[in-house]
Amino acid sequence: LPPVRTTSPRMHFAPRNNWMNDPNGLVFHDGLYHLYFQYNPQGIEHANLSWGHATSTDLLRWTERDPAILCDDDAQIYSGSVVVDHGNTSGFGTDENPALVALYTAAAAGRQAQALAYSTDGGYAWTKYDGNPVLDRGTSDFRDPKVFRYDDGGDGYWVMVAVEAEDRQVLFHRSDDLKTWTLLSSYGPAGPVGGVWECPDMFPLAVDGDDDDVRWVLLISLNPGGIAGGSGTHYIVGDFDGTTFRASVPHPTPTRALLRDGSQSRDELERYGWIDFGPDCYAGVTFDSLSRNERTLIAWMDNWKYAGRIPTDDSDEHRSAMTLPRRLSLVRDRDGDVRLRQHPVMDLEAPETSDLGSLTEGAALVADASDAVRIRVSALFGDAQSVELRIGSETDADAVVIRQDRASARIELDRPDAGMPEGFRGSSSAPLARADEIEWEILIDALNEQVSSLELFAEHGERVLTALIPASSCTFALAAVGGRLLQARADVVEMRW
Ligand code: FRU
Repeated sequence: LPPVRTTSPRMHFAPRNNWMNDPNGLVFHDGLYHLYFQYNPQGIEHANLSWGHATSTDLLRWTERDPAILCDDDAQIYSGSVVVDHGNTSGFGTDENPALVALYTAAAAGRQAQALAYSTDGGYAWTKYDGNPVLDRGTSDFRDPKVFRYDDGGDGYWVMVAVEAEDRQVLFHRSDDLKTWTLLSSYGPAGPVGGVWECPDMFPLAVDGDDDDVRWVLLISLNPGGIAGGSGTHYIVGDFDGTTFRASVPHPTPTRALLRDGSQSRDELERYGWIDFGPDCYAGVTFDSLSRNERTLIAWMDNWKYAGRIPTDDSDEHRSAMTLPRRLSLVRDRDGDVRLRQHPVMDLEAPETSDLGSLTEGAALVADASDAVRIRVSALFGDAQSVELRIGSETDADAVVIRQDRASARIELDRPDAGMPEGFRGSSSAPLARADEIEWEILIDALNEQVSSLELFAEHGERVLTALIPASSCTFALAAVGGRLLQARADVVEMRW
């Protein structure tokens, strides 16, 4: 198929035009990464939900393809996943040419059920199964099926995680042929419950790469009630025995009153694991069919709080983008807790780069860079109280500020509202495990003339903050506040290829 176009922004996927939300059906097949996504083929609002499609060979440069699965008069095509049906369990492909099978939510007024579509041409043309729906509980908010192959050492079977969104429950079903599903168990309500649960995912990962210490990670998106306000995604580390998921450190069961009124304190929310402490990382799920121990997540870089009101360009009518693909791993921290770590997958060997500056001993760095940059900062606190990076700071009120404070052991991101919708301005923050060390990797990309994105990976990717920001002049000033930084280094690299 001819490529439709290679997209801008430079580092992130965004469709050429129209509305996009969640990533769907992430799958690696025949050397290609496929990204499907919630898409309105006809407009810039959340309507006519269908699956858009893009492909990439390197997770960095995306080619937008024709939409894959279109809504019809019966139902919208809500979020879901794709698996490669090796073994032809569904009968839609052959042993030599396995079908790609999509499980998605067919959403109609008052009714949501799981439906199937398949592709025998490598993920471009899709046929809706004539026996749809394949899993219907007769409820109104049962959605977002994520399917994976569970290998129990025998033949294995398919497992689907999906949510009863309003009940804050994840349901686990199993199938031998992807068409007939039986209930295994459920998880929740538990932990963060200040909104509906959406877009679950679950996968195994080895702690510190040790194959004898494999844990299962359950991801649950929550809207509203996220750690930065509005939409957010939490994770739970535990075990899955093929039937039931058990959290290593169980999250408390909410009272009925809490389920009804939904508000949880910041202190309580900080006890849980969060994929991202910033406001704009939602509905993230991982790729199917990567090699063992390779787990890569992509999320929607937006927040339902204001998603429909983010400014668009006149020429390029689209809103928001996906996050950078992030490689996930599990590490044991100093307290013995198991934590998720994330690294942007970007292969910096590939693009041509230019060094724009460096910083030593608490001086200030000012650099002018282009639309797409990576900034790395590392230092030790000498007698400084905090360190601040100001981005596009002509006036104080309009600066985006990243600040790490030693006494409170927190990292913080402030963004101004400059031209952005109500509910946008504000500050998000994360607690840090190591108070005296500064270690940041920041990726900034222009999404359109008015909006950029910023992804901050701190503490070796154990703390991530993602935020849309008003497009700025891309001037960076790094300053030690109240004293000196030791062994301070910074570099700004323009991403160009
Ligand atoms: C999450 C979500 C999903 C749903 C989809 C509809 O952002 O609400 O639960 O399937 O978006 O577009």
